[in-house]
Amino acid sequence: MKAHVLQLLLLSTAAFAESLVDQTDEKVTPEPCKVRAWVRAEDLSPDHVSRGELRIKVSRVECANQVASVALRLQFDEFGEVKYLKKGAVIPEVQASNQTASVESLDWMANDVVLDYQAHDDAKSDPELWTVRAEERRVWATEATLLDNNPDLSHPIVTPFTVVVPAVNYPPVTTRYRNLYEPVPQHAFSDLGYRYMALVKFVNGRTEDVLAGHTTFAPSSETRPHPVPFIANQTFADPGCEREYPTARKRAERLESCLPEAQRSTFVAEITLEDGNVVQQGQTLKGRVTVRGTNGSTVMARLSLRLWSLSRHPWAQTQAEKGGDMLFYNATSGMCRGESALVLDANSPNFDYVFNDTDNQIFSTTVSTHQELSLTKPYIDFELELPRDVPVDFASYYSHSESSMRMHLDVIYSRDVAKCMQPNSLDVLDEEISTEDSVKTEEGLWDVYTPIGKPRQDESQYYRTLTLAADIPVVVVSHSSVNNSIPHYLSPGALAPVLQRGTEAEKPGSFPLVEPVFIVEALANTSARLMQSGTSDPAKWRQKYMNFSRRAVMNSDPTQDYRGGSYAGLLWRKKVVAEERGIWPLPAEVVEGGDNQEPFSIPH
Ligand SMILES: *[C@@H]1O[C@H](CO)[C@@H](O)[C@H](O)[C@H]1NC(C)=O
Ligand SMILES: *[C@@H]1O[C@H](CO)[C@@H](O)[C@H](O)[C@H]1NC(C)=O
Ligand SMILES: *[C@@H]1O[C@H](CO)[C@@H](O)[C@H](O)[C@H]1NC(C)=O
Ligand SMILES: *[C@@H]1O[C@H](CO)[C@@H](O)[C@H](O)[C@H]1NC(C)=O
Ligand SMILES: *[C@@H]1O[C@H](CO)[C@@H](O)[C@H](O)[C@H]1NC(C)=O
Ligand SMILES: *[C@@H]1O[C@H](CO)[C@@H](O)[C@H](O)[C@H]1NC(C)=O
Ligand SMILES: *[C@@H]1O[C@H](CO)[C@@H](O)[C@H](O)[C@H]1NC(C)=O
Ligand SMILES: *[C@@H]1O[C@H](CO)[C@@H](O)[C@H](O)[C@H]1NC(C)=O
Repeated sequence: MKAHVLQLLLLSTAAFAESLVDQTDEKVTPEPCKVRAWVRAEDLSPDHVSRGELRIKVSRVECANQVASVALRLQFDEFGEVKYLKKGAVIPEVQASNQTASVESLDWMANDVVLDYQAHDDAKSDPELWTVRAEERRVWATEATLLDNNPDLSHPIVTPFTVVVPAVNYPPVTTRYRNLYEPVPQHAFSDLGYRYMALVKFVNGRTEDVLAGHTTFAPSSETRPHPVPFIANQTFADPGCEREYPTARKRAERLESCLPEAQRSTFVAEITLEDGNVVQQGQTLKGRVTVRGTNGSTVMARLSLRLWSLSRHPWAQTQAEKGGDMLFYNATSGMCRGESALVLDANSPNFDYVFNDTDNQIFSTTVSTHQELSLTKPYIDFELELPRDVPVDFASYYSHSESSMRMHLDVIYSRDVAKCMQPNSLDVLDEEISTEDSVKTEEGLWDVYTPIGKPRQDESQYYRTLTLAADIPVVVVSHSSVNNSIPHYLSPGALAPVLQRGTEAEKPGSFPLVEPVFIVEALANTSARLMQSGTSDPAKWRQKYMNFSRRAVMNSDPTQDYRGGSYAGLLWRKKVVAEERGIWPLPAEVVEGGDNQEPFSIPH
């Protein structure tokens, strides 16, 4: 089932359950009037006026005259969070216990003893060993009263506003995942959000702040310089990812004893990017990678390329270094931490499902390619089309978003090394495979997985592969470019946007200065999130995540509303497309008869 259909189903189920509750409650005590608010608005961008509309609806007909006024606030907040080891603190390594593993729990590396994670895991939630800190940086907020004089809300009211943005580049909103599996090891995370809040005053003096949606900012870049080819050499290395897991560490140790690093070939990639390594969102990165190896005992087999987005956390890193955690950088950064992130963008093809009634939806996700390499063809030519919503390189207060082109090179070692690595013999390692293409094609006819007419793949390769990595630095700049340079929001004297009532945007006489306010989260709340106990033993994960009686920990989280409510940019695009297609505005009689004040539920 498509994700959005599922979401609709879930929403309507929740609404149904809610309406049952509402009805029963109603007979006992009348609930206070509730208000729902929506914003649709253009994304923000520098030196630009974003048009928008606020829609207000009350929960029941009796509430139609209960609202005295509604103001709309747009606020920009940033968040940073860190967990690091106190000076001198040591986390015990996972120990081999004196118990022999049962046959079922033997992993593919044939670890023959049970590993004991207890001391290691206990240390990860020991407050004596760790420092945690989380803070919000309220960058700016701007508000205006859009409805006053006790408006008649017997029908929903839609009222226009504008956001006048000075010539300043603010950061875009990037969707990233926060991996918080307890027990949490060294950790750095940051996020930011632009939220619309409806500030509702009722006639009885009560006030309520209602989340009305969120938006994003599309920074501009200076017109990029004339493209000059980019040529560089990069040496591949074993990234050593997941060395924190004892099984992976053991495998690396075994490989080193069966095939010492000095005996392996060294591989170097020569990269040519035709139009340079600065690329705009939505454009194509085009070039060639040639791999050369020394004649050690590993041979190259496959190369894959992928646009990788990295977020660095300079604030968290500085805190950790000042606090004496010298391992922090390696534990939270480096070659293993890239991801395929996207920025929020109303025109992203990911929203096409809303506009095009089509079943074969194409999502813009990972931009990647992979090809076989051999001594006769040691290069690949590629063209990677970047979607318009790949993250731009941008430095915000808590995080720096950077891009790179990640290359993964699969290299193959000999059958003898594989046998040394894998003492429990595998038949596939004993079968001699001819190097003759015609023989391999014949073999392919006796293998159900080989496409007809193709040579059979040597399955033993799967057990003889080591994946090396190297990065090509790439800078992604905005699809919207301007000729003049736009100040960055962290530069001194940066100006903040102004929200105004009505459709006519008046350029404010002067924009307000950015004056950020810092709010440090209460330590108890940060600890509740980052110091939870748990187990990192993979053998116990299944037990852990299948345990539905596990107490669901709903810790408060300052970022939980950063993308709350609807995405205003998508609702605005719906309005524009509905107008283009003659779907909207609706004829007056439909509005009168259709959009009346039905009861509604507030989603949680
Ligand atoms: C394993 O070690 C524990 C504690 O170190 C000990 O009590 C137990 O007798 C040992 N078991 C075996 C089978 O050696
Ligand atoms: C890359 O290495 C090759 C082979 O050693 C060399 O010919 C070439 O000049 C190098 N290119 C750069 C940009 O260093
Ligand atoms: C490459 O292989 C040849 C023949 O096996 C050997 O003589 C030579 O020393 C090797 N060169 C390097 C740099 O390992
Ligand atoms: C961090 O990783 C780099 C690269 O793997 C390594 O050279 C360095 O020694 C590591 N630093 C520490 C403190 O472990
Ligand atoms: C989907 O609809 C949008 C808006 O009308 C249009 O711009 C886009 O090209 C369409 N995409 C496809 C794949 O038809
Ligand atoms: C930038 O300047 C060039 C030449 O002066 C002009 O052709 C181009 O339209 C300008 N671009 C923008 C985005 O203003
Ligand atoms: C399941 O969770 C409950 C509540 O947290 C806990 O008491 C129990 O020990 C757990 N059971 C297992 C098998 O982990
Ligand atoms: C801490 O968390 C509690 C419970 O989730 C919440 O009610 C409270 O507002 C939080 N305190 C602060 C200072 O954030």
